[in-house]
Amino acid sequence: MSDLTFAGPALLILALTIGFLLIVVVVMVVRAASGRKRASKGDRGDSAMLSMALQEAVAKLKAQERQMAARAEASERLAGQIVAGLTSGMVVVDRTGEVRTMNPAARRILGLDAEAGTGPVADILRSVPALAEVIGEALQTSAPIVRRTVTLEGGGKPSHLGVTVSHITAADGAMQAVVCLFTDLTAVVELEERLRLKEALARLGELTAGLAHEFRNGLATIHGYGRLLDPAALPEPARTYVNGIRAETTALGEVVTNFLRFAKPEQFVMAPVDLRAIVLRAIHDLPGAAAVTTFEGTFGTVNGDDVLLRQAFSNLLRNSLEACAGGHTAPAIVVSGDVKGGDVYVTVDDNGPGLSPAAVSRLFQPFATTKAAGTGLGLAIVQKVIVSHNGVVVAASSPAGGARFQVRLPIRPVS
Ligand SMILES: Nc1ncnc2c1ncn2[C@@H]1O[C@H](COP(=O)(O)OP(=O)(O)OP(=O)(O)O)[C@@H](O)[C@H]1O
Ligand SMILES: [Mg+2]
Repeated sequence: MSDLTFAGPALLILALTIGFLLIVVVVMVVRAASGRKRASKGDRGDSAMLSMALQEAVAKLKAQERQMAARAEASERLAGQIVAGLTSGMVVVDRTGEVRTMNPAARRILGLDAEAGTGPVADILRSVPALAEVIGEALQTSAPIVRRTVTLEGGGKPSHLGVTVSHITAADGAMQAVVCLFTDLTAVVELEERLRLKEALARLGELTAGLAHEFRNGLATIHGYGRLLDPAALPEPARTYVNGIRAETTALGEVVTNFLRFAKPEQFVMAPVDLRAIVLRAIHDLPGAAAVTTFEGTFGTVNGDDVLLRQAFSNLLRNSLEACAGGHTAPAIVVSGDVKGGDVYVTVDDNGPGLSPAAVSRLFQPFATTKAAGTGLGLAIVQKVIVSHNGVVVAASSPAGGARFQVRLPIRPVS
């Protein structure tokens, strides 16, 4: 920490002063001794007094030196305590790119070893290259970097950091080092993302619900006229055409009805609900699911709408069953719960063919389906329900070989 205090120069000046005074005392004493023979009685008295005064001055200066050293030590200790106690991460990198200081919060946030300390910044921060890059950028410029959001790859550490980098300059204005301060913004970014999704869903609902409603009216009219035509009384090929019109309008009517159900703002009936019971009920209500599903782990109580949450888990289970059927595998689904850091995680793993690239790029979007008979609303509904419960749903590959969908919901705070 010595490079962060100004005690060094002051102590140096004090030491030089004391040295100079000591030389003066020595010169005086030598001169007094050599001139002793010549000096009169009065001269001897004067030099003795002078030497005493100088000794007193030296003693005073030495006391001051001790005080200043103690003060410098105390301020250094305080600076060390402040840096160690910071909840934000702090990394000081000198102009040659060497990490000079790293506080415990930095190691904790970045998931680095307790020993990680000094050395080239690219080595020390090799597991977080995005952060090393920002520091490198600051070393190239004189302008500070203020509140930049940096996205980190890989698990086990925050996915987003809020980073500020400022410069330490010498008296001549030359840059000496950069100080990088950062905080974990993962929760904030997730919250923003949830709000954005909620708003997007609400806008989508408003925009399209009116349109879908008009479609439904038009379809009902076409369907009505189609019904007035009796296919049996019609010659071929008109009979086939009328049957085709009827079948298509029925199918389209169902799509529009489903979409309207998805788009309309839900009236949530929020209450404390046992997530374990909800998931179990979803498994048992879905035909064919209970026999092939393993249910394990711990669940919690969340604030939610019992019916909608059940629908969300049912959609995930149905997708798993359908994926296995499509991939011609005997289904083995695992639904597991875990409670961590105020959230409950429910994971649905299957051994189906996994997510196809076509599905991954449009996952959770309404009408995105790879199934001939699918409407592509199942996952859009899951996302809408979970986001409305302040949760998150993500998709990944399952270690079981198929797809994994994980829902995270906040545990109901104990009041
Ligand atoms: N467990 C899974 N394994 C593999 N692919 C999946 C899985 N779950 C979803 N998908 C893919 O995501 C797409 C969208 O799923 P979604 O539930 O939204 O619609 P759908 O199942 O096609 O139709 P719907 O649920 O409306 O009947 C699916 O068509 C499929 O390609
Ligand atoms: Mg589905």
